Amino acid sequence: MTSPSAASSIESRYRATHDRLARVGQAHLLTFWDRLDEREREGLLAQCDALPLETIQREIASWTTEATFEKPSGSALEPARVVGSSPPDANRYRSIGEQMIRDGRVACFTVAGGQGTRLGWEGPKGTFGATPLLNKSLFEVFAESILAARRRWRGEIRWYLMTSPQNHHATQEFFRQHRWFQLGEETVRFFEQGTLPSLSHDGKILLSSQGSIALNPDGHGGAVRALAASGSLAEMKRLGIDTISYFQVDNPLVSAVDPLFLGLHLEHPESSAEVSSKAVAKRDAGERVGVFCRRDQRTMVVEYSDLPAELATAQNADGSLVHGAGSIAIHAISRAFLERVASDGSGLPLHKAFKKVPCVDLASGLIVQPTQPNAVKMEAFIFDALPIAERSLVFETRREEEFAPIKNADGEDSAATSRSAQSQRAVRWLEASGVVVQRDARGLCAAIIELSPLTALDASELRGRGDLPKSIAVDARIAL
Ligand code: UD1
Repeated sequence: MTSPSAASSIESRYRATHDRLARVGQAHLLTFWDRLDEREREGLLAQCDALPLETIQREIASWTTEATFEKPSGSALEPARVVGSSPPDANRYRSIGEQMIRDGRVACFTVAGGQGTRLGWEGPKGTFGATPLLNKSLFEVFAESILAARRRWRGEIRWYLMTSPQNHHATQEFFRQHRWFQLGEETVRFFEQGTLPSLSHDGKILLSSQGSIALNPDGHGGAVRALAASGSLAEMKRLGIDTISYFQVDNPLVSAVDPLFLGLHLEHPESSAEVSSKAVAKRDAGERVGVFCRRDQRTMVVEYSDLPAELATAQNADGSLVHGAGSIAIHAISRAFLERVASDGSGLPLHKAFKKVPCVDLASGLIVQPTQPNAVKMEAFIFDALPIAERSLVFETRREEEFAPIKNADGEDSAATSRSAQSQRAVRWLEASGVVVQRDARGLCAAIIELSPLTALDASELRGRGDLPKSIAVDARIAL
């Protein structure tokens, strides 16, 4: 039984919410109030309270014409300046980065809120089995990389992970089951990203059921707000962490903590030590990666879906792509810079995508399954922070060493291509360490090697080990 005072309190909250929504033309969200039970009413009021109505209104106000949804003009785009993979003074920068790690100034940060839809994987994407022989999960590979870096450079390295409402509990549970991969529970912190509502073409927020709003995660750019709101930035400040090593959940070749990159970020003249990025040469004009460009003296990433075709395919005299610096979504970001971006109320821009979103028909109350895109979904992208920085360094690295993402169920950027790239990198490192890896008559290596980050974080560390096999048979299956 609902007590009279509880009933009057929910009624007064209803009226306040209704007024607030009505002021911005969204009172239809309460259309089915009379049909909801008490729990559903509470849920709906909480969802309405959490809506960033000001941001949504600003967004809708910008949709003055259809042209708002056209691709950005490419006319003023120039290729970004890129620091090559073997910069002068590399050893000095590497030492600076190592010192940053030893001093406890560096934390890792993984955006793990995505759904892995393209991969067809039900659980959080980081739980996907990624390695060539032992099928270790992506999360385990990253954890080993962080653990190995802690041991090698003797520094405390915390790990922050951003989840979404859809996978927060499953992600935490996975870490609990694996005992936080020996990292120590207190050094791994999870927090949820925010959500944004889907809108109809005329700017009305959609309902996914009579008592709930159609919400989607607010994109990895939501990390800026979520890092601040979760208290993670404040915690970092308290602990003396000033640099964040940012990476996505899909790339098992990532160097989670890279001293050379950290040193370049902090001290290179091209960098204002706010946000730096790694790039690889695009595989071809059609590769689905963002590209680093410059506009108005600022570095930026233009997403593959936004790069006009004539720019994506434009070539230099030597046949290379003009806009060939592909983003592998690895960044070094200053904590103070994020604090500044987070405290600026306007936030990162929202990108819009037209999608099919099942929603409630307000007249009938029934859920409609659309056959055509009926809704605008909004997402923020972390790389939109680049042009906010005074100078933003782009550092080119080698694809075969650092980028083999798992995005698709098959074909390019799948588990199969990533496992093969992981094994081939291990073979190269072993050969550079003097191990004979036997090849077949065509010179091909059929051995499958899995090299844990705990064994070596790079070729030079592997070379220093005294326990490597002398030779590896042509058909070997070895986990080191
Ligand atoms: C992304 C980049 C692209 C880059 C490529 C490199 C975007 C929009 N594009 O493409 O420029 O070249 O990676 O591999 O990011 N995520 C969240 N919350 C969300 C949405 C995504 O945490 O709301 C996380 C995902 O878990 C994943 C990462 O962000 O770790 C990337 O998301 P995804 O949508 O898969 O981007 P891509 O299309 O692969």
